[in-house]
Amino acid sequence: MIIKPRVRGFICITAHPDGCAAHVQEQANYVLSQGALGHAPKRVLILGASTGYGLASRIVSTVGCKAETFGVFFERPGDEDKPASPGWYNTVALEKIADASGTKFYSMNGDAFSAEFKTKVVKALRETLGTVDCVIYSLAAPRRTDKDGNMYKSVLKPVGSAFTSKTVNTDKAEVFETTLEPATEEDIFNTVKVMGGEDWEEWIRLLAQENLLEKHATTIAYSYIGPEVTWPIYKSGTIGQAKAHLMKTAEALNAFLKEKVDGHALISVNKAVVTQASSAIPVVPLYNSVLFKIMKAKGLHEDCIQQIYRLFAGLFENAPLKREGDICVRLDDRELLPEVQNEVKDVWAKINTENLRSLSDFDGYQKNFLQLFGFECDSINYDADTAHLRPMKHLLD
Ligand code: NAI
Repeated sequence: MIIKPRVRGFICITAHPDGCAAHVQEQANYVLSQGALGHAPKRVLILGASTGYGLASRIVSTVGCKAETFGVFFERPGDEDKPASPGWYNTVALEKIADASGTKFYSMNGDAFSAEFKTKVVKALRETLGTVDCVIYSLAAPRRTDKDGNMYKSVLKPVGSAFTSKTVNTDKAEVFETTLEPATEEDIFNTVKVMGGEDWEEWIRLLAQENLLEKHATTIAYSYIGPEVTWPIYKSGTIGQAKAHLMKTAEALNAFLKEKVDGHALISVNKAVVTQASSAIPVVPLYNSVLFKIMKAKGLHEDCIQQIYRLFAGLFENAPLKREGDICVRLDDRELLPEVQNEVKDVWAKINTENLRSLSDFDGYQKNFLQLFGFECDSINYDADTAHLRPMKHLLD
């Protein structure tokens, strides 16, 4: 199949297997260039392991820690007429890297929110890795059906009052003002159900109950806070309420794990990056375009892989890491530096359609977005035919 990008708003409905593999290899090479993480976890369960921060966590675990991994994700394998989703191709590529170094690598594809699927994962985990010393929770999903069969949809809306802000139409490269209407109580409740800590807590309690957590096991979930320009839609919006719930859950899980296995629960507050999940948040693509130009100019820019390597090195190898209390680490420290955010504010006040490309890294943002789907990789010939059906060797039912 000859595969070209087909972008529909904030998603691309095609993905290129060779481009995804190149992007995974590039991230693996970064980890190799930084050196091994000898004291890091040895058996890692990653929930949401196929793209974004979860994929980076799996690459750092596999390549940097030589850890055995069990990855859970929700991806499309592709069929005769359609390529697979990028997370599928990413996993096939990382599996090859793991196999080449003899590192155990197992995957399961399904709905991590479902009780039935959780039971299957627990059984397969017992039969493969046995127990785990680290659980990464990196799910980002638009909806969740809970164990009682209730379906909740998350929304990205401000809370309390409407919010008017600049944003960018990424197809047309146009900056315009948008007004986002405030969430209802039901919207807030539903978003907390999907992106709050309830499902994370279900996973950890189940794993503990099944004696699958080792002594001193750590669990980490990812969060975001960001600067004031995005607070109405992020930190103070529906998603921020869900993240506040995630933080409370971390406190409860920390106490629970301490008692059960002398373990630890953590929230890592990460930097803004381009992922499938973040592309869907209003205002954020424009903020990222502005931010990336400033951080790149200052030599401070990081993507998922640099962030997660820094997290693991800080947590497990005593490299410098900004901590806040017992359960929170801040990888967004460079993004939130006053010298970065003061410039963001200046540019934000001036940016418009005419100066979008000169004042921000909009071109870099778009390239970054297409790379999530395996496009815009310099080493790939996109006019060439490629095998689009790529089986996974260690995919369990
Ligand atoms: P992403 O969209 O790249 O990855 C989501 C992952 O969840 C994928 O592996 C996908 O297969 C999996 N997934 C989705 N629904 C699932 C389901 N029902 N069952 C099993 N797997 C499912 O997202 P991203 O951005 O890496 O987000 C991960 C976490 O990082 C989220 O908590 C997010 O809030 C957080 N974060 C993201 C930032 C960003 O700028 N992208 C910044 C800071 C934190």
